[in-house]
Amino acid sequence: MHDANPPSRRSLLAHGAGIFAVTGASAWLSPAWAQTALRPTPSQTEGPYYPIALPSDNDFDLLRNGSAVYNKAQVAWVEGVVTDTKGVPVSGAVVEIWQCDHEGHYHHPRDGNKADPSFQGFGSVAVGKDGRYRFRTMRPAPYTGRTPHIHVKVKLDRKELLTTQLYVAGEPGNDRDALWRRLDEQERAALTRTFSPSANGLRAEFPIVVQA
Ligand SMILES: [Fe+2]
Repeated sequence: MHDANPPSRRSLLAHGAGIFAVTGASAWLSPAWAQTALRPTPSQTEGPYYPIALPSDNDFDLLRNGSAVYNKAQVAWVEGVVTDTKGVPVSGAVVEIWQCDHEGHYHHPRDGNKADPSFQGFGSVAVGKDGRYRFRTMRPAPYTGRTPHIHVKVKLDRKELLTTQLYVAGEPGNDRDALWRRLDEQERAALTRTFSPSANGLRAEFPIVVQA
């Protein structure tokens, strides 16, 4: 878990008091040097609408379902890097997202299979050596009782590394959402991301840290 060995007392003495002043006592007397590990992305409940069977079209682009094009919502790109707690990309990890359509419906029998057929609703991306993933989807929409969110799951082979939810920064419904309210300050920062305007739609950077 440690990125570097703490300097030994001997090497500190060899370097004299100067280096001690530069690095500071916290560099080795306290566990601060061991806190360089990244904080894992907080997990959240899966919810009831994870697909029972993966749809035939489950690629990175949720705005095209087969040959159908979905244009009833604001385009949003969600992207980032999947790393372990040391910042090393988790090559081979699969990122999945799923969300409701603009009217708040999921492709799921529990939701009456009422989602717009042109909205893919679910996508998956296998990351390469750089750990990067990218989805083209819609800015998440609210539904009864929930602030806008995108469900996210990360797998490595058959192992589930993370299940969580991604939120939109500045969304007024966040404060009223029971799941979002449950998050502490740091967890909110990790899961509540800015969707900024860009040339081809909104863009949200969502770094994912897993314990691989
Ligand atoms: Fe949901």
